[in-house]
Amino acid sequence: MQLLDGKIVSQAVKNDIKEMTSLFINSGKKTPHLAAILIGSNGASETYVASKVKNCEEVGFKSSLIRYEENISEATLIAAINKLNCDEDVDGILVQLPLPKQINEEKIINLINPDKDVDGFHPMSIGKMVQGLPTFIPATPYGILLMLEYYRIETSGKHAVVIGRSNIVGRPISILLSRNTYPGNCTVTVCNSRTNSLKEICLQADIIIVALGIPEFLKSDMVKENAVVIDVGITRVVDASKKSGFVIKGDVDFTNVAPKCRYITPVPGGVGLMTIAALLKNTFAACKNKYS
Ligand code: GUN
Repeated sequence: MQLLDGKIVSQAVKNDIKEMTSLFINSGKKTPHLAAILIGSNGASETYVASKVKNCEEVGFKSSLIRYEENISEATLIAAINKLNCDEDVDGILVQLPLPKQINEEKIINLINPDKDVDGFHPMSIGKMVQGLPTFIPATPYGILLMLEYYRIETSGKHAVVIGRSNIVGRPISILLSRNTYPGNCTVTVCNSRTNSLKEICLQADIIIVALGIPEFLKSDMVKENAVVIDVGITRVVDASKKSGFVIKGDVDFTNVAPKCRYITPVPGGVGLMTIAALLKNTFAACKNKYS
């Protein structure tokens, strides 16, 4: 069993971005700039956005964090996005999800200028991704691809089982793994909470990607020997013995699944770190696109 180490891979990606950014700025071009909107005080969202901003600084990007109270009106948020859409200095716009219930998520995503859609959630970005055209790929699936690539994991002809069909992870990674490229050329099965015979399907998988948000959902009797397991889950589970009051759990019963695997991602220290590295790559690309 080999760990797919998000720390090592994300650092390698960030080192590349840092070097490219420095060359870019030294050649007279602008500093890449990510604007992040965070609404409310969801602990997990706060942590993710703080990490995104910190990582921008680490690679030499500019970042702006725009915060609103939980009770922000949709009109105020729309005005804020319109302002960022028109701001020449802003290259990438990220609206941290989930949004409060008074706000229509679809409307907000559709409003972001596709040229600045570094999350890759806009229908234009998704449409291009489906067609295999150059575009912004959502950060978590993109991070998974970067990880498979770094460890040169063979994907061609393999059966990939994706558990979860969200617009953010399950659906896009299933499309990306089926593309005629590397990583790709997989035969993909997309499962959901209603899938019959999930265990039997998983037992046929060479690659399993779990993106459900249910701690320790994937058990060892669902995994064949030498499978590649990618765990996208990051759930805070109450644990009074910890100073923070919680522990982070993935969607995989790591202790029992890991010994059967050829490769497996840990949680934390796996896909989560790759998501941020991929977001930085998209932000750099958004900035670079301004000059092409
Ligand atoms: N919430 C959970 N994952 C993501 C993500 O990748 N981007 C944004 N904007 N919000 C999220």
